[in-house]
Amino acid sequence: MVVRVAQWATGAVGQEAIRGVLGAPGLDLVAVKVHDPAKAGVEVTPGVTTVATAEELLAARPDCVVYTPRTPSVGEVADLLRAGIDVVTTAFCFHPARMAAADRDLLLAAALDGGATLHGSGLNPGSFGAAVPLALSGLVRQVRRVTLTERADWSVYESTQITFDAMRFGAPPAEVTEAASDFLAFNADLFRQQVWLLGDSLGADLDEVVTRHDVATAAADVPVFDRAIAAGTVNAQRWRWTGRAGGADLVEIDCQWTVGPTDADWPPTQHGWTVTIEGDPSVSAHLMTLASLSEPRSMEDHVHAASTATAMQVVNAIPAVHAAPPGFATTADLPAVRSLQGFRA
Ligand SMILES: NC(=O)c1ccc[n+]([C@@H]2O[C@H](COP(=O)([O-])OP(=O)(O)OC[C@H]3O[C@@H](n4cnc5c(N)ncnc54)[C@H](OP(=O)(O)O)[C@@H]3O)[C@@H](O)[C@H]2O)c1
Repeated sequence: MVVRVAQWATGAVGQEAIRGVLGAPGLDLVAVKVHDPAKAGVEVTPGVTTVATAEELLAARPDCVVYTPRTPSVGEVADLLRAGIDVVTTAFCFHPARMAAADRDLLLAAALDGGATLHGSGLNPGSFGAAVPLALSGLVRQVRRVTLTERADWSVYESTQITFDAMRFGAPPAEVTEAASDFLAFNADLFRQQVWLLGDSLGADLDEVVTRHDVATAAADVPVFDRAIAAGTVNAQRWRWTGRAGGADLVEIDCQWTVGPTDADWPPTQHGWTVTIEGDPSVSAHLMTLASLSEPRSMEDHVHAASTATAMQVVNAIPAVHAAPPGFATTADLPAVRSLQGFRA
């Protein structure tokens, strides 16, 4: 059976999702919706031209929408679900059981009304934050602690709007707090959901997920594409989201994000992602996404590879999401997601 797929938003992740859908047997790209009306009317593939409105997307009768806008909207997704369209998204809904109740209830009612399924995933949150640790836990009898460390230097990340405006790098320390920024509060909640997902899936019986946020400042100006971080403003953020039960730290995601050199006094960690399970037995894996492991590629290509991975995790999940019962399908609910295109050209 062929699944008719529409793409919502054509940013770094959306463009990679389009390529993924076009390459996947069993998926048929039927519509592409842009956020910026100036991008409408562009032919993506023969028979598919970008559109600016949800109505035009619906007119293409998709079975599933790949929803990757910069800022997600509960209302937009609920409308799609109510229309009977499955939604896979990299933007939110990684563990709806632990999201704001009003949003969850609205989305669930819409999905059940429309007989559709919603799945949120990606690289992290998503694969490295949940699918990989859960897969590794299959090697383990008793789990005592699960941690994921993410270490990234954002100075090569081309989306400076996200680096500066959303993540607040380059702002004075007092403005770089969860309470001072809607985006940071939203982002922190997504990672808390990820910790809950691991805890709930592995029987941790967590009491709470606490957030610690530390920042450090740049000693000298740091140029970042067309912008710059001024000396004395924030160029390093460390976020730790820790799931606790009975006073013990059982599940932790520790993200150390920097822009250029920093004198932050944080534990040295390898660039990329490290999953560690302390248990019987203990297991650890270090993970990276690169444009190639065998051929020379530019730093830009390597950075972009993370967007490809983010997109493919949800594109490759589409057949499983389409087959899942109406409602929510988390990373923990779905079978292991594998490449649909595989070795095919
Ligand atoms: N789970 C993960 O691992 C993971 C990793 C990376 C990103 N993400 C999330 O995935 C989503 C897409 O990321 P991205 O890197 O593709 O982002 P992006 O390039 O910054 O933006 C995506 C697109 O969103 C549209 N857009 C612009 N302003 C908008 C607004 N105010 N409201 C809604 N949409 C707007 C634009 O679409 P048009 O170009 O079509 O006009 C833009 O190209 C984001 O929500 C991001 O946080 C998740």
